[in-house]
Amino acid sequence: FGLQKEVDAHLKAYVSKKPMSRGFFSPDSLSRSSSGGSMNTDEGIYEQPESLVQNSPAMERILHRKSLELRNQQKEWQESPEGQKMIEFRRSLPAYKERDLLLKFVSENQVIVVSGETGCGKTTQLPQYILESEIEATRGAACSIICTQPRRISAMSVSERVAAERGEKLGESVGYKVRLEGMKGRNTRLLFCTTGILLRRLLVDRNLKGVTHVIVDEIHERGMNEDFLLIVLRDLLPRRPELRLILMSATLNAELFSSYFGGAPTIHIPGFTYPVRAQFLENILEMIGYRLTPYNQIDDYAQTFKKRKSQIASSVEDALDVADFKSYSSRTRESLSCWNPDSIGFNLIERVLCHIVTKERPGAVLVFMTGWDDINSLKDQLQAHPILGDPSRVLLLACHGSMASSEQRLIFDKAEDGVRKVVLATNMAETSITINDVVFVVDCGKAKETSYDALNNTPCLLPSWISKAAARQRRGRAGRVQPGECYHLYPRCVYDAFADYQLPELLRTPLQSLCLQIKSLQLGSISEFLSRALQPPEPLSVQNAVEYLKLIGALDENENLTVLGRHLSVLPVEPKLGKMLILGAIFNCLDPIMTVVAGLSFRDPFLMPYDKKDLAESAKAHFAGRDYSDHLALIRAYNGWKDAERQQYDYEYCWKNFLSAQTLKAIDSLRKQFFYLLKDTGLVHQQPENCNAWGIDEHLMRAVICAGLFPGLCSVVNKEKSIALKTMEDGQVLLYSNSVNAGVPKIPYPWLVFNEKVKVNSVFLRDSTGVSDSMLLLFGGKIERAGLDGHLKMLGGYLEFFMKDTLGEMYLSLKRELDELIQNK
Ligand code: CDP
Ligand code: MG
Repeated sequence: FGLQKEVDAHLKAYVSKKPMSRGFFSPDSLSRSSSGGSMNTDEGIYEQPESLVQNSPAMERILHRKSLELRNQQKEWQESPEGQKMIEFRRSLPAYKERDLLLKFVSENQVIVVSGETGCGKTTQLPQYILESEIEATRGAACSIICTQPRRISAMSVSERVAAERGEKLGESVGYKVRLEGMKGRNTRLLFCTTGILLRRLLVDRNLKGVTHVIVDEIHERGMNEDFLLIVLRDLLPRRPELRLILMSATLNAELFSSYFGGAPTIHIPGFTYPVRAQFLENILEMIGYRLTPYNQIDDYAQTFKKRKSQIASSVEDALDVADFKSYSSRTRESLSCWNPDSIGFNLIERVLCHIVTKERPGAVLVFMTGWDDINSLKDQLQAHPILGDPSRVLLLACHGSMASSEQRLIFDKAEDGVRKVVLATNMAETSITINDVVFVVDCGKAKETSYDALNNTPCLLPSWISKAAARQRRGRAGRVQPGECYHLYPRCVYDAFADYQLPELLRTPLQSLCLQIKSLQLGSISEFLSRALQPPEPLSVQNAVEYLKLIGALDENENLTVLGRHLSVLPVEPKLGKMLILGAIFNCLDPIMTVVAGLSFRDPFLMPYDKKDLAESAKAHFAGRDYSDHLALIRAYNGWKDAERQQYDYEYCWKNFLSAQTLKAIDSLRKQFFYLLKDTGLVHQQPENCNAWGIDEHLMRAVICAGLFPGLCSVVNKEKSIALKTMEDGQVLLYSNSVNAGVPKIPYPWLVFNEKVKVNSVFLRDSTGVSDSMLLLFGGKIERAGLDGHLKMLGGYLEFFMKDTLGEMYLSLKRELDELIQNK
């Protein structure tokens, strides 16, 4: 029996009843109306203007009238004093000089490529030029421009800016849409959305009916979604000859994209930035008054080092000590991997910041860090500093993609006089957002990059050295308003060894979701489709992804989408999490499972503050009880928070238990979204609150978690003093210290299922849940490959039996039997 076949049979009934083409359900209960537009949390993109659906003469008259209204509105604003000021600003941007040429190119060509320095006005101006020219030609009401952004924050901040430039509230003619949030109205004609949102729209609307212009921004970043979208759009163009496609890129690799679209014309917007002085570690050390000590180490490596390098080298070596870069060995490119990638040199950053704050001219500071963890730890460290932590001197802000939008907006505000703004950011501040008053940039030289080890089928997340292009881009951020300074916290020789460009994401991430999307968009053979990418991924990576999808039952042997696969493709989560949701619905334990999936797909709400790790860990352990499950701990924490919210002590609850209220709120809203999506497919009927509460069957929850996370599985062997964990591919693995299963004396389950493993130095598992043999037997899939004691070979999915009406009871009695059987084996 295969889990697959049976889930399929079960799901098929619903597919025929409820066609998927209805697209994304936007429940009224989730909409929050506001002036101008409406806030909603659905995944879809805005509906087409009604008028476009019916092409009658009456409709055309309405359209024309609306277009005239739009034109008059715009005129009125432009004549007002604020409008005049805004126009003046907009005309000062480099893009303005190319306005006419850009519009001419857009009208004469189906595809154009636009490149220009960051800040020259591509994102805010170009879509607006198009909108304005359509409005001018009284086609305003009939046009529909979509501009994609790789990140949420840029979609939101840019749309806000563009609305302000047009003297409107967000949600009138300009709107945005990102996962979980959106602001758009009936009259929205220019929509900024994440690339993911447009891809989701393509799922239900293959021809982008009604859309007149698609603008794909930041293509130079070579994100996976963007590369994917380009293949789809290239195929779409012949079917939609009147559709216009505009590709925008910050740096000058425009030729690559132009030739991909058959030699599409390119326009370069010459930009203006002030010169920025680059300082490398050698100069920085002198600047901050670091006295070079004579070289006196005696180990071999130091000897060779000393022999080979001159004065500079020993200063570099010293620098490395200060910078915490301990394992630097030589100057060649291979040696870059020898640097200790975990050390970012907090002390050095602190000293450089101190220097800027006390000695340099006014101007905001932008510090490039690798990720959220670093930013938080560094922020904690700096806040304890007598100068940097003094709010009357320094306004310390963080900026990263997973921050709440209200928090993110703070970084654009000016600091008060005499206070220096210091923004700690990830590489998203490289191109997609612009903080205007930055004069100093501090560049740690690294970015957390996902990479994918296709041979071992393991995703890796390591801070790695950035490319030369990225370093230049970071530097450029200091020269926006006046000449700037950039402090690169690594020696010049290391910079020289950087790669020119970063590898495209498509070549360094697992491809499962992407493959599923290719199938659900009916784009034919996966490998054939991906071979048409700008830079196609390795065949082995594609093969791994296809095999995985077959294993979890999303594809059949012939690589056709199964019914399960079709359901998975509309759920806005990874395939395995989608499967968990679907099984949660079938097995009537959706409520807790939605919490798990929301937590896994969004973020862990358990906070682990740097300095209170022990307290935080024990708070989490309290939720876990004797469950041996991070996922069940999450469910308890969430349920506790809901109770606390009802009794209005949620704030204290979060504080006491080291939980992020913001994340819990996001989980809450994701849960609602999942519920309505599942309801839309017909799999659930009742309200989520009624879908099985805690206590009915904890084992069932475990089993469904197992079904979703399989084959993320490791065996547990309890030894006398330690626990040995093994996966099939990696051998010995370890648990992250914040897992409730880390550091326990014994785990009374033979298996742990996990969501994610990451190769740092060893392979680490993040969250895990203990499962029994029977759960694996019943809910796990088939593992064909040998390994894991040969034990697994006999385990297959035996779900069939339990899909009948008396599901719950039968399941329970059989599970009991099987448990006994296995115990007595
Ligand atoms: O896309 P590109 O990097 O070419 O530039 P942009 O994002 O369109 O920004 C053009 C100019 O608009 C910037 O130089 C900023 O001065 C201004 N801008 C702003 O004031 N506030 C924003 N949220 C975005 C842009
Ligand atoms: Mg831009």
